[in-house]
Amino acid sequence: MKHLESFATRLISFAWAKQRYYRNCKSDESKAPNIVQFQQLMQNGLVQIEGFLTSAEVRAFLQAIPNREQLEAHAKVHPQASLYLVEEAHRLSEHFRSFFENAWIRSFAEAYLGSKAVSFRRTLNLKLDPNRLTSFGFEGFYHMDDWKHRFKAFLYLTDVGPEEAPLIYLKQSHYGWWRLLAEAQLYHRYQATNRGYATNPATAYLGCYFPHEIAELQERYSFQEHACTGPAGTLILFDARGLHRGSELKQNQRIVLVDHWTVPQPRFQAKI
Ligand SMILES: [Fe+2]
Repeated sequence: MKHLESFATRLISFAWAKQRYYRNCKSDESKAPNIVQFQQLMQNGLVQIEGFLTSAEVRAFLQAIPNREQLEAHAKVHPQASLYLVEEAHRLSEHFRSFFENAWIRSFAEAYLGSKAVSFRRTLNLKLDPNRLTSFGFEGFYHMDDWKHRFKAFLYLTDVGPEEAPLIYLKQSHYGWWRLLAEAQLYHRYQATNRGYATNPATAYLGCYFPHEIAELQERYSFQEHACTGPAGTLILFDARGLHRGSELKQNQRIVLVDHWTVPQPRFQAKI
């Protein structure tokens, strides 16, 4: 009985915090730079835009990629997945900065998240070695990033086919009552830095789902799995509350710039 009470209390306190937090998140379609794309994002949790960069721009961006030695020295490396993660990627090149400070993306983020949207993390993610993966932890499971509003912009700098580690997304999984328990767990138990790194291994996998749970959700809510394949220069805008996962690199390389957006809680200060 005591457990039931504390469970109910935790759920209610989360519901209270959530409705207070979301008062600061007012999406506004009239501010979107492209209404059709905005509506796709609202409806599916994701929109994909090919040709965001021309091939000449892609080439210029690729010239700014650090070499392997520099990556080994400076990037956070996840050896099993052969994933190199470079933080503060806007500092690497003027081209990258132009992406992270792109006014069109900012308008989109503000239309979707509201005027308090901030870009709080800017990374360069590289998967360079095919078939090295045995298990790549959190990213390999379908998961929601947060209970708070979360929007990401992925810019592919290489062609990404089904074998080239596309982002996988479950369309329309970014809303619904079924999310409540997982969100409450994240709210009460997840511990992370303000850049989103889990700080406690014991709770790092909160927000993740097992394959059989995903199958049940897909059956119940008809969520469609979408592999975000596309040529270099493709921009993917998605709501990272929706269920998504990484996939394995089976050939070539995959290089992507990732801009992370949220609406901070009042006590949170974005460092960028
Ligand atoms: Fe994620």
